[in-house]
Amino acid sequence: MSDIAPADAVGIINALIRAGRHEEATDLAVRCDGQWPNLSIFPLLASQSLAYQGRPQPALSACLRAVGKDRLGLEPNAFFMALLIQLVPQVHWPQLYEVWRRHFPSPADLDALVATLAGHQGRYDFFGAWSLILLGIGQGDEAVDRFAHCLGPLADAPPPAHEIVAEYSDKAGGYDDDSVHRNSVDGIAPHLTQGLGGRAGQTIIDAGCGTGLAGRHLRPLAERLIGIDLSPDMVARCRDSGLYDTVIEGDLIAALNGMPGQAGGIAILGCAYYFPDLAPMLTAARNALVPGGRLMLIDFPAAGAKSVRQTIGGTRRYCRSAETMRDLAAAAGLVVEPPDIVAYFNLPSYLWTFTRPE
Ligand SMILES: C[S@@+](CC[C@H](N)C(=O)[O-])C[C@H]1O[C@@H](n2cnc3c(N)ncnc32)[C@H](O)[C@@H]1O
Repeated sequence: MSDIAPADAVGIINALIRAGRHEEATDLAVRCDGQWPNLSIFPLLASQSLAYQGRPQPALSACLRAVGKDRLGLEPNAFFMALLIQLVPQVHWPQLYEVWRRHFPSPADLDALVATLAGHQGRYDFFGAWSLILLGIGQGDEAVDRFAHCLGPLADAPPPAHEIVAEYSDKAGGYDDDSVHRNSVDGIAPHLTQGLGGRAGQTIIDAGCGTGLAGRHLRPLAERLIGIDLSPDMVARCRDSGLYDTVIEGDLIAALNGMPGQAGGIAILGCAYYFPDLAPMLTAARNALVPGGRLMLIDFPAAGAKSVRQTIGGTRRYCRSAETMRDLAAAAGLVVEPPDIVAYFNLPSYLWTFTRPE
């Protein structure tokens, strides 16, 4: 050992990990950690090879050791987040998150981490994971603040309809198999029941319904359930679900404009992020509601004052501040309640409830 350089040892350990020889990789990484105790890379590699062996507890301990050596580094902190999300049941997140937080004893320490990593290339994944953990431990407001580091100024024009159709022509087949998609809708089901239920004989419109994952939760609340979606492939699957009375293929704003005063409830879930300007959507939804009817809408948050921003990674989502949404609601003639902060597509999201005044 004494005759090789740390960089060579890193190469050997990485080769062992790539070859699936994880026990040997862990063993060598632990020995190198003893030899070069100031470096964070060896406990980090030990953590990775332990994670591959399905051993979350020692993997977390080794990772925290790496964080202790490189507190402002992206790699050890990002790997800690990944371990928590992928290997640890959510019920243990608060306790383990606290153990990680103890590496940053003062608010200034934590601010230093945020400032250092906010300029980093990998910041979208890192802050996205951090905000998901904060949501999981019930710190929604802080999750929204961290998610702000996943955002940049408006960069792209919204995708034209034919691009959205092509996107979902690819995605429709496997859409329901993705647990992130299913969990997103299932996670907000109690909110949907509370917000849209309780009006006998009503029509509910699921605008941007996709494959109809929300149908299971909306069906018991509606006498008549209508879906609307742009993508023929998503519409076909939604029809196959058998949960909807009608599924309209087309643009949701045009379709809502053609249904004045018909709906007791409207849900627009996981779809508003395609729209840089929500004014036409909110106006169309208001007009489609009966007086007293309610609209529930998922939108990704932009922290702080009035702003519309766009994520810098992943699907380039448009995100709005709460203040912006309140202004839009007032302009559309909708009464708005304070938003719930929920997880949707593994990101913090505002779940808005609007009412058309009587
Ligand atoms: C990510 S999926 C969400 C589907 C479903 N609401 C859910 O939460 O599982 C987004 C859906 O919005 C639809 N969409 C996007 N823009 C639309 C528009 N202008 N009118 C109608 N549907 C639209 C897409 O075709 C896609 O099916």
